[in-house]
Amino acid sequence: MDAQAQAALVTAAMSAVGRAYAPYSGVHVGAALLDDAGRIHTGSNVESASYGLTVCAERTALVSAVAQGVRRFVAVAVASDRKQALMPCGACRQFLSEFGPAMRVLVVGPKGEYTEYGMDHLLPSAFCPDDLTNV
Ligand code: THU
Repeated sequence: MDAQAQAALVTAAMSAVGRAYAPYSGVHVGAALLDDAGRIHTGSNVESASYGLTVCAERTALVSAVAQGVRRFVAVAVASDRKQALMPCGACRQFLSEFGPAMRVLVVGPKGEYTEYGMDHLLPSAFCPDDLTNV
């Protein structure tokens, strides 16, 4: 992934922050996935009055893209309206690894600056689809 693709992904994640539905936590999050054909798919967190039904931005983006027939991703950018960059939660790390075990993860700060992680760093020794068959 070149610097231009990274910049486009970060911009897409930051604009998805504005589409978050987060009246309960007040934490607005945006995610942007880069698929293996170079297309970007975005998502935002969507909360519910029944709090536990909340869906994080990363999983919203994934579910939306997969429902469009896209299943392979090379990178994701995650942005929020917090003063500090917000790390993907454990559930989202697992869900991201399902469709991109080698995905690059760009965690975006308030001014668009970002830190890049590998999925192997964020979710070492991951439970993966092969674990269901290699028994
Ligand atoms: N949130 C995300 O969208 N992604 C994460 O990885 C962590 C948390 C959302 C869920 C909830 O709407 C709000 O942030 C506060 O937890």
